[in-house]
Amino acid sequence: MRRFILNLLGALTPLVIGASGSCTEETARAFATELQSSLSENARIIFPESVDFSNATVRWSTYGQPTFAVVVEVATEDDVSETVKFANAYALPFLATSGHHGAIKTLAGVNCGVNIYLRKLNKVEVQADGQTAIIQGGIYTREVTDALWEVGKWTVTGVCECTSLMGPALGGGHGWNQGRYGLGLDQFVEVNLVLGDGSSITVSDDSNPELFWALRGAGHNFGIITSVRYRIYDVPKDNTWTVATYKYTQDKLESVFGLLNEFTAGGEQPIELRYWADFLRDASVDPANASILLFLVYEGTEDQASPYTSQLVALGPATVSSQPTDYPGIAQLTLNGKNQGSCTYSDTHRLRFPIGIRSFNLTAQRKAFNLFNNVTQTYPGLNGSVFLNEGYSVKAVQQIPPDSTAYPERFNNLLLSANFRNAPDPFLDQVATEAGLAIRAILLEGTGSSEMNTYVNYVVGEETLEDWYGHEEWRIAKLRALKSKYDPDHKFSFYAPIQ
Ligand SMILES: Cc1cc2nc3c(=O)[nH]c(=O)nc-3n(C[C@H](O)[C@H](O)[C@H](O)COP(=O)(O)OP(=O)(O)OC[C@H]3O[C@@H](n4cnc5c(N)ncnc54)[C@H](O)[C@@H]3O)c2cc1C
Ligand SMILES: *[C@@H]1O[C@H](CO)[C@@H](O)[C@H](O)[C@H]1NC(C)=O
Ligand SMILES: *[C@@H]1O[C@H](CO)[C@@H](O)[C@H](O)[C@H]1NC(C)=O
Ligand SMILES: *[C@@H]1O[C@H](CO)[C@@H](O)[C@H](O)[C@H]1NC(C)=O
Ligand SMILES: *[C@@H]1O[C@H](CO)[C@@H](O)[C@H](O)[C@H]1NC(C)=O
Ligand SMILES: *[C@@H]1O[C@H](CO)[C@@H](O)[C@H](O)[C@H]1NC(C)=O
Repeated sequence: MRRFILNLLGALTPLVIGASGSCTEETARAFATELQSSLSENARIIFPESVDFSNATVRWSTYGQPTFAVVVEVATEDDVSETVKFANAYALPFLATSGHHGAIKTLAGVNCGVNIYLRKLNKVEVQADGQTAIIQGGIYTREVTDALWEVGKWTVTGVCECTSLMGPALGGGHGWNQGRYGLGLDQFVEVNLVLGDGSSITVSDDSNPELFWALRGAGHNFGIITSVRYRIYDVPKDNTWTVATYKYTQDKLESVFGLLNEFTAGGEQPIELRYWADFLRDASVDPANASILLFLVYEGTEDQASPYTSQLVALGPATVSSQPTDYPGIAQLTLNGKNQGSCTYSDTHRLRFPIGIRSFNLTAQRKAFNLFNNVTQTYPGLNGSVFLNEGYSVKAVQQIPPDSTAYPERFNNLLLSANFRNAPDPFLDQVATEAGLAIRAILLEGTGSSEMNTYVNYVVGEETLEDWYGHEEWRIAKLRALKSKYDPDHKFSFYAPIQ
């Protein structure tokens, strides 16, 4: 019966769309009316007039955001299939969302779309062997960490509590534990995926292995992950962490980044150690110039961290603080907690210009800082911007063969990104874009290479396919072939699309 209805709708679609010339509110309502009876009991359809609509469609950045005619808040994995099938029947574009932190401008291609809102798919089932958990596709990082922590387990997730587990893992998944276990995507064992025609398939090393390769790095392009069997690990006994925070005036830049190069040690950074050094404007440190905010996140006691912290103190920071914590407490101490800045949604444009590198070039680092400093002073509307220098341990990341997943830049040790933030204003967007591209060009020149790697989860959308997915010809050829095979109608071509 259902098949019959779908066929019928399929046949009618050109008429419905043709009549209006484009997607309309009526189409969305007709779609929803038909879909309703095929959804599970706890699923909800939300229209723009509902108070819950904005809650389900808010964005971390509204630059290049998608626009939706209707939200389908799915409650079961089958609901995802059903929604995709009916959206196709009505020729409505669709986009899965969960954490709402995706911020590439290609998302603006979703116009009058169906938001397949995954937030209710948030179950974690630890498996009997204790080595994997089945985790659903819409869960937040914090929910994963909490559920595992309760049973003495942990894994690799992004550090921000309110991004989804899946969003980061589709393109990489950097997190505190990556030095020990690899990236988020390295934890995938088996994926349940809904394809563009609404069918569900299993994807693993044994089932659709080529697609499994592609999902881990170019994952936004192939389907909706409804659940994943994910690797989990025992929390070591007596586990404790130290988060030390330093603020430096800009004249210390060369000494700070010289020391950070020693910590990074060309990829040999100890798994206990990770740091972030941010450039930002903080009048309490320096009213005139941008300054450096540095977080050292160490797995161990303050004493154990002291070989590193003592060197950071010796550089003469303006302020120092240090706090012991357990693993779930790190997010709050690094401003990634669920009630903090990283988790706020507002009508703000945030344009990010990532680049992966192996070590800091102090000349380039100074030039990039100067440009950032200049533009955030010249344009006060950009003065809330932050330039991230992320230094995770990469030991386990680099032990995994580089060709075994679509993640293209295992050889890089550091992730840099100028993150501009401004009120919606095309002029400021333009200033931010020009500054971001110029900063990235400086950083690329500093590597001595002409090939740029731009972490696909951070990109603004000004990059090439090779910047996103790698410069080896075979990678791009393989991704294109898999795209034609598994997403021939380009239903998943809104986030860093393979074309
Ligand atoms: C404040 C902040 C902190 C961050 N921290 C980290 C970090 O620590 N590590 C890191 O690696 N990255 C980090 N990121 C980048 C992050 O990986 C991306 O922003 C990611 O896209 C967020 O996913 P989301 O679910 O929150 O966003 P959404 O906007 O909901 O989704 C992003 C994209 O993923 C797709 N998607 C989401 N869920 C699924 C699914 N189940 N199946 C298929 N497609 C899906 C969506 O369709 C969309 O295209 C951070 C970003 C921000 C803004
Ligand atoms: C949506 O609503 C829920 C419950 O009312 C709330 O906890 C959550 O923070 C809201 N989410 C967003 C993104 O506003
Ligand atoms: C700001 O930085 C410039 C160099 O970039 C320097 O000349 C100036 O003294 C700095 N201002 C303050 C207040 O430190
Ligand atoms: C920023 O750079 C421009 C161009 O080099 C220069 O004219 C201007 O004085 C600089 N402004 C600041 C605040 O440093
Ligand atoms: C940014 O500029 C605004 C307006 O000029 C000012 O009120 C605010 O304090 C500035 N913020 C920073 C961090 O410099
Ligand atoms: C560092 O960057 C500068 C350009 O800013 C470049 O001239 C120099 O060659 C780079 N140094 C190394 C070691 O690559």
